[in-house]
Amino acid sequence: MDLEIPRHIAIIMDGNGRWAESRRQSRIRGHEQGAKSVRAITRECARLGVEQLTLYAFSNENWKRPRTEVSFLMRLYQRYLIQERKEIMDNNIRFINIGRPEVLPQYVRKELRKTIEMSADNTGMLMCVAINYGGRVEIVDAARQFASDVKSGKQNVDDLDEELFSQYLYQPDMRDPDLLIRTADEMRISNFLLWQLSYSEIWVSPLCWPEFREEHLMEGIEAYNRRIRKFGALKT
Ligand code: FPP
Repeated sequence: MDLEIPRHIAIIMDGNGRWAESRRQSRIRGHEQGAKSVRAITRECARLGVEQLTLYAFSNENWKRPRTEVSFLMRLYQRYLIQERKEIMDNNIRFINIGRPEVLPQYVRKELRKTIEMSADNTGMLMCVAINYGGRVEIVDAARQFASDVKSGKQNVDDLDEELFSQYLYQPDMRDPDLLIRTADEMRISNFLLWQLSYSEIWVSPLCWPEFREEHLMEGIEAYNRRIRKFGALKT
């Protein structure tokens, strides 16, 4: 059977901590292994011809975690951004981010900027990392910017519709995800892409993120192929 590859796959990478704890290892080890899954799944998505992959790396609620875990994660992102640049370039991937980068440590912002700039002309898969991201904050930021444009006379309230509003989101040109994958058996959206996931198919894997590999991604794509997408209309 010829499988339809979802054009945009979004992933909530959950269960790093549980994976580590079940092996009597520190949570940090789970995040390190999680970075290996990021590498494997990114490469596989690029190979399959996925147009966009969006990964939820750090939510704006994750700052509530212990300080040691937060700083480990920040150093992990820094390391990932440096080490994976070659892989990103070799796979013709264009790297972007969503979220509020202003409050990230300067050493992460610097590597983010470098990776974005270096890959800006690549023409293959778009890889979007959500870092210090929250869906509600994204909508509030968009509303605030629109209101400010109305105030300055650049926009007219009467022109506001879904299409115009979506132009105020962090990445206006990104298409909505076709498939949302979440690992570790959790059935929640957790403030991820609240606007964009309206009609996405959701598939949950029982596996923790550090053990999620190419064959599991394929299970998700197969499940997606068994769904009938109607977007509120009747099946044609
Ligand atoms: C959820 O597991 C995972 C995170 C909060 C961080 C996601 C980070 C990675 C997958 C590491 C690498 C990412 C990149 C982009 C290099 P959890 O800690 O919430 O797990 P738990 O629910 O079992 O505690």
